[in-house]
Amino acid sequence: MDKLLIRGPVKLKGRVRISGAKNAALPCMAASILTDESVRLTNVPDVADVISTIELMRYMGSDCSFDKEKNILKIEGGKLTKCEAPYDIVRKMRASSLVLGPLVAKYKKARVSLPGGCAIGVRPIDLHIKALAQMGADIRNEHGYIVVEARQLKGIKFFFDIVTVTGTENIMMAAVLANGVTVLENCAKEPEVVCLAKMLKKMGARIEGEGTDRIVIEGVRYLKGCSYKLISDRIEAGTYAVAAAITRGDVIIDNCEPEYFDNVLLKLEEAGSDIRRMKNAVKVSMKRRPKPFEIVTMPYPGFPTDMQAQFVALATLAEGSSVVKETIFENRFMHIPELMRMGADIEIKGNTAHIRGVKKLSGANLMATDLRASAALVLAALAAEGESVINRIYHIDRGYAHLDSKMKKIGARIERLK
Ligand code: EPZ
Repeated sequence: MDKLLIRGPVKLKGRVRISGAKNAALPCMAASILTDESVRLTNVPDVADVISTIELMRYMGSDCSFDKEKNILKIEGGKLTKCEAPYDIVRKMRASSLVLGPLVAKYKKARVSLPGGCAIGVRPIDLHIKALAQMGADIRNEHGYIVVEARQLKGIKFFFDIVTVTGTENIMMAAVLANGVTVLENCAKEPEVVCLAKMLKKMGARIEGEGTDRIVIEGVRYLKGCSYKLISDRIEAGTYAVAAAITRGDVIIDNCEPEYFDNVLLKLEEAGSDIRRMKNAVKVSMKRRPKPFEIVTMPYPGFPTDMQAQFVALATLAEGSSVVKETIFENRFMHIPELMRMGADIEIKGNTAHIRGVKKLSGANLMATDLRASAALVLAALAAEGESVINRIYHIDRGYAHLDSKMKKIGARIERLK
């Protein structure tokens, strides 16, 4: 398994180019199932989760070609021979459940392995299933698979008891070919949900309200292919912004949409960073130790749970005590024991972390556990005194394109060890 060797401390300086959004790529790739025509996605990130989804689409018979240099993905629609997402793919990436809605809408059936839990929590898809059942699907749980059949889905009025990003995306895709109108309430408002809705509308879907908590979809009979550019990854951009802050560097983050992670930028300003927002870039510089801050993770436009671990890393070096409350997932503090081994002073009480800033961290041998926890360890290692080795970095490769080469370009002393 690959490892990352990082020597700190460094001050990151220069320009880094952000890739397309992983969490937009996955639903938009699933949306290609809804048409018999070809779909061309651009600004597609070269990350492991995209490769896994291509593997799944090919397994189902789809014809995919991914130009990693140009970040262009072409999917020939209408070629599916299997409507199934097998366990050995889903267990690597729970977001495979996103094929459920499109498969049932277009092919009237689906057999998708239940995602099972993952490091950060149980993460059921009960609301996805409840909505599909209400749309008229017949759903059985067989040997760890969800088996869904539906002659014809019908439009419904549905309230999401919990705000769910992929739940909103899955049911929006189920509804675009359903009979009648579907009204979804308490929807996720993430930019990735809006990105998917705009792609579906380009394919001929009738959708209104994306980005608000009420989305109305009027079913149509047929969807065309399309060519569509994905939004940039606001979490990758936020991660590099924290990297600039924690190393007291000066970094320009290119090819991003600052308005999609303004909540993150505002928190960095609160911590003492200088932020200069531009049209498709943002400049982050930090001249001092961070000031302490408070965070409560919330659905968009609240502070994103996917940035929680990175800000805990920043808080470990703050001048004072910070408080970080995780309200979305029940087990998303696995970066904390690793940070404590680097000298961080953190106490966890339930879903709240109390971080007393220390003057410095020291490099250590570290274990990555999940995608964003691993990113937090990289950030801490860049600022720590001495050498760190981060193991199991396949977690990082799931959601960060070429992290080591991008970091090296802005001054990090980082090596990937095979
Ligand atoms: C999406 O996951 C993202 N993944 C996650 O990013 C992100 O952390 C999460 O949204 C929250 O923003 C993708 O978009 C591919 P949820 P998702 O459904 O959709 C509960 C990353 O780091 N819930 O919004 O799986 C659930 O347990 C990943 O890129 C139910 O109880 O998250 C959780 O507590 C990690 N029943 C909460 O809702 C359901 O049917 C929010 O989950 C669905 C969700």
